[in-house]
Amino acid sequence: MTWLRFFHVAFVILWFGSAAADVVLEAVLLRTPDRAGRLTLMRLHAVVDQVLEAPAVVLTLITGVLLLLYAPAWPPILTTKILVAVVPAAANLFCVKVVLDRDRWARRTAPEVDLLKDPAGRRYAWKITATGAGIPFAIAALAIGVINF
Ligand code: HEM
Repeated sequence: MTWLRFFHVAFVILWFGSAAADVVLEAVLLRTPDRAGRLTLMRLHAVVDQVLEAPAVVLTLITGVLLLLYAPAWPPILTTKILVAVVPAAANLFCVKVVLDRDRWARRTAPEVDLLKDPAGRRYAWKITATGAGIPFAIAALAIGVINF
């Protein structure tokens, strides 16, 4: 089971690390005035999500379920941790879909479209920001995992 714990925590680290990279990308995007730069940053966010973040979320869930199957006991705190942990997992997978949709939309827009001020661009940005509500739950799941197991 130790190797399963190792991989569970390794996938959590990959997930949180790529999520932190995405936050930096979005912050830089807001300060990028030119269209070419914005398209590049939206594409880079999409690539990070496809190659690192989405697989890390799914592998955290898979290793979590496997750990559950092998868990000698199921203390109430474990139930709490899982309920808390599925919130950021769901929020993040939804965010990945929005980021991929935005990247596809942005590359199809006419050159004169402002990717950040256009109503569709604002909606994408709002949805991506709103999924940040999952961050406190992710931190809580990590704290429960580190303190209790
Ligand atoms: C934000 C998401 C998550 C984080 C940050 C997280 C973090 C952790 C940490 C730090 C540990 C302790 C590892 C160790 O000390 O060896 C752990 C163990 C565990 N996690 Fe997660 N985890 C997450 C999601 C999940 C999910 C979604 C599940 C189940 C579906 C899950 C099930 C488990 C189980 C069963 C254990 C082992 C408990 C035991 O030893 O009895 N985790 N997790």
